[in-house]
Amino acid sequence: LASAPPLALADKYFQLRPDELNPLWGNPCDDVRHRRIWSRSKWCGSLPRVLVVGPQKTGSTALHTFLALHPALAPNLPSPSTYEELQFFNNNNYLKGLDWYLNFFPASLSNSSQISFEKSATYFDGELVPRRAHALLPTAKIIIILISPSKRAYSWYQHIRSHGDPVAKNYTFHTIITANDSAPKPLKDLRNRCLNPGKYSHHLERWLAEYSAHQLHVIDGSLLRAEPAAVMNTLQKFLKLTPLIDYNKLLKYDPKKGFFCQVTSGEKTKCLGKSKGRIYPPMEERSAKFLKRYYTPHNTALSKLLVRLGRPVPQWLKDELSNG
Ligand code: A3P
Repeated sequence: LASAPPLALADKYFQLRPDELNPLWGNPCDDVRHRRIWSRSKWCGSLPRVLVVGPQKTGSTALHTFLALHPALAPNLPSPSTYEELQFFNNNNYLKGLDWYLNFFPASLSNSSQISFEKSATYFDGELVPRRAHALLPTAKIIIILISPSKRAYSWYQHIRSHGDPVAKNYTFHTIITANDSAPKPLKDLRNRCLNPGKYSHHLERWLAEYSAHQLHVIDGSLLRAEPAAVMNTLQKFLKLTPLIDYNKLLKYDPKKGFFCQVTSGEKTKCLGKSKGRIYPPMEERSAKFLKRYYTPHNTALSKLLVRLGRPVPQWLKDELSNG
């Protein structure tokens, strides 16, 4: 019989079980013995039951704001670095463990009739996210927002450009999206970050490998922008929220912003900040053509997938697949 100091033992263990190097957190409260000794202030009963997973630039902040207006829903506390997004399942925050995540869902955050929710738009296309999310939140409802992937890519480019990203500052959108594999790495990386999240069917299939279709709700992001009250009405029904509230009374189109905003007192509105609903020049025709062709196989697969699931095919998707 041989032994070794704890670190050496751990090294040995993971040499034998490399598959366990990446943790997968389950819900500790599933075990009655854990429940008996679990901290009252970090009760896993307050874990989110709704996840808005993005992708980025589809209107996810607007949706988060609208959901937070509902009396039956409680958003997580904000993160000091990433604001309302916790980005737990998709990056190194996951390795900080469940205790870290639970800090943002204190028992005092919601009353017993409220449902906690979280929105991190980086979840949608995160390779490991559906598996990790399902391990912890197997009964969660998953909300996905889709807009034209070409528009999403352009919005993302404008977003990081305005954040001073040097590659986005130095190269045009067209150069980035058409970069080939012999291009410098930073250019290829940015190309991938512009284009990859828009391969919607691929990412959706990964979610469907973990969650059953009835747990997934797909929102048409163009509709969310144009008719948010109607979208919120359908979403409330999907989430089985009570009371059903009339978002026509809570949201109003603000002509100055060009978007729907929250009604505050009287005629006043509170809109999202300058970084949401940016003003930028329209996409060049040649980029629009390139992207339409680029996304055709992905959009075709998405359309088939939505039909298979019995979900409506958004108008923007029909437009993208038309010959015009
Ligand atoms: P643009 O700034 O490119 O117009 P996200 O919050 O996921 O990053 O998405 C940002 C996008 O949300 C904005 O992209 C904007 O078009 C869209 N959006 C939809 N409804 C909105 C609203 N009510 N207010 C502001 N932006 C909204």
